[in-house]
Amino acid sequence: MAFPVERPRRLRRTPALRRLVAETRLHPAALVLPLFLREGLDEPAPISSLPGVVQHSRESLRAAAREAVELGLGGVMLFGVPAHRDAVGSGATDPRGILNVGIADIRAEVGDEVVVMADLCLDEFTDHGHCGVLTGTGEVDNDATLERYADMGVALAHAGADVVGTSGMMDGQVGVVRAALDAADAQHVAVLAYAAKYASAAFGPFREAVDSQLLGDRRAYQQDPANRRESMREVRLDVEEGADLVMVKPAGSYLDVLREVADVVDVPVAAYQVSGEYAMVEAAAEFGWIDRDRMVLESITSIHRAGADIVLTYWAAEVARWLVEGKA
Ligand code: PBG
Repeated sequence: MAFPVERPRRLRRTPALRRLVAETRLHPAALVLPLFLREGLDEPAPISSLPGVVQHSRESLRAAAREAVELGLGGVMLFGVPAHRDAVGSGATDPRGILNVGIADIRAEVGDEVVVMADLCLDEFTDHGHCGVLTGTGEVDNDATLERYADMGVALAHAGADVVGTSGMMDGQVGVVRAALDAADAQHVAVLAYAAKYASAAFGPFREAVDSQLLGDRRAYQQDPANRRESMREVRLDVEEGADLVMVKPAGSYLDVLREVADVVDVPVAAYQVSGEYAMVEAAAEFGWIDRDRMVLESITSIHRAGADIVLTYWAAEVARWLVEGKA
């Protein structure tokens, strides 16, 4: 006998039905690929804790940007790995610094065909690895750092960035960078505010990717994973200061924050599926403990479902290829 029950399973019966009623769809245009450019490389170099991701040479970076266009990706996010570092991160503001050179290379290669984003933070360029400049007693000096960020924003804009990603978690950084861009004839350059960014263990592999010099941690400026309301304050401040887009980072462990942000802002919302999120899946798959491809799609779909319009992920190119080839 058939019980008189409601039957949601009816719409799950075939792949065609499931496809029809899917509430969340992945698309290459919503994916952004992070890229690392290392000064002095002739060949791309692997990153052991990020299998499949490389530090690019200038030449291989151009090829990666070209591929991003061919796959229809929404954008690329560039990080520079300099050969020399100092206390104030001079390489970040030097027009010949590796990040600025890389932005110009990508721009020359792809023009306006893909959005060129660049990381606006000093940590890759400082010899102590912190995201800002330090006081005499070794703390990160918020306002002295803002002066450096203002100059760095202008340098990235002049190199050709469409979007600068303020990722340092200094108070006031979005407003100061916005004002500096406006004063430097770069009103067209957008600010992607890493609005809610947590002091996360999931940034571990990134530190290898950028050859980070950091000894301690970033808990005095990045947020405590215990806090949710604090993220809403950070987001509010960044939007008030002129953020064009806001981001939540990491993504997977902060889907509640992402949902809440997406519910209240009227700017596009991005989420960064960070290095550790990638590495955990790759490692489990390497052991044969998880179905890698399904886990990749599930994780990115979940980030979209939670409210992200845009996802930064190291799998962006691979997932876009699956989508283009109809495999996802
Ligand atoms: C700061 C920055 C970091 C990441 C992106 N921008 C490192 C940090 O905050 O320690 C991490 C990204 C990742 O783990 O994939 N420049």
